[in-house]
Amino acid sequence: MKKLSLLGDITPAQFLRDYWHKKPLLIRQAIPGFKPLLNFDALATMASQDHVEARLITSMGGHWQMQNGPIETLPPREQPEWTLLVQGINLHDARADALLRQFRFIPDARLDDLMVSFATDGGGVGPHFDSYDVFLLQAQGKRRWRIGPQKDLSLVEGLPLKILAKFKPNEEFELEPGDMLYLPPHYAHDGVAVGDCQTYSIGFRSPSFQELGESFLQFMADSIDLPGRYADPELEATSKPAEIPRHMLATIAEEMNKVRFTEDDVTIFLGEHLSEPKHNVFFTGPAKPLAVGRFADAAAKKGLSLSRKTLMLYRGKHVFINGESFAIGRADKATLETLANARALEGAAIASASPDVMDALYTWYQDGWIELG
Ligand code: SIN
Ligand code: CO
Repeated sequence: MKKLSLLGDITPAQFLRDYWHKKPLLIRQAIPGFKPLLNFDALATMASQDHVEARLITSMGGHWQMQNGPIETLPPREQPEWTLLVQGINLHDARADALLRQFRFIPDARLDDLMVSFATDGGGVGPHFDSYDVFLLQAQGKRRWRIGPQKDLSLVEGLPLKILAKFKPNEEFELEPGDMLYLPPHYAHDGVAVGDCQTYSIGFRSPSFQELGESFLQFMADSIDLPGRYADPELEATSKPAEIPRHMLATIAEEMNKVRFTEDDVTIFLGEHLSEPKHNVFFTGPAKPLAVGRFADAAAKKGLSLSRKTLMLYRGKHVFINGESFAIGRADKATLETLANARALEGAAIASASPDVMDALYTWYQDGWIELG
């Protein structure tokens, strides 16, 4: 695989082998000449909106406070030691989306979002660790990072955010615009703004097995099939009416043991789960959608692309888009896999698509999941 300038002088394969989940990597000028994609006013406006996840963190005089969005009023720009975090910037801005997609040497199933943090001098979110990997790209001004591999991850109790009780950094770097720091999960870190500063976090998702298990059981509830009903034709009179009969317990345990799941069930569950849009994501279809015939003509001419918000994955014969799954035939597999990987389809591929695929594309177009061009 070719080198990504993003990773300095190593290839994605070398990065994954030597650093991913293992140790930090500082890449000076990962993106030379990088400039913030959003100015302060655009960020502040985003943070004030209902459907945008934002937090305001202040640490004045060592006193930590956190306010969840929407954030209507920000502290004055001249006031030091505050941080505004805005999550999911990639959903709202095309260039932020393009930046996140530069990290697609890691599967979409693992990639989460782009978070922007704006801080005034001395601002930060305190020494902490995250449960997932992160790339921290400096976008504006400077930030001083102190990091360390400590095992003691105990937290200060009673604070509104996770702050390490005993932070023991062993390295320190000052990042300038375009520099990027990769940190594996559970690596202690603290980034403090040196003057006004913007840092972009490219975040990953690593769902806990507990969370997956709970969702999987809900998913299976819709698909289990256990015909019949309990009966006891041999029932005998009891002197202990409150006791659950042994026969009842044994019969029902045997029936419950018939609940089985296959790898296919797990595939469908996982694809639907991972492609489910976050709770604050809404799609809007075109104001005046084309009729189906005109849509097919326009798509064959201009091609189609997935909306920024659309999550599309596949595995084997299953395709998943925004929480829905489809079993696809051999003939349609290549077309839909191209759409998922390239996040776009060229006109020629659409002109030769099957009626089933055209039906699906038209529905997705009406729902705002895909767009012309
Ligand atoms: C920040 O950029 O302020 C926080 C990012 C992090 O430490 O995970
Ligand atoms: Co962090």
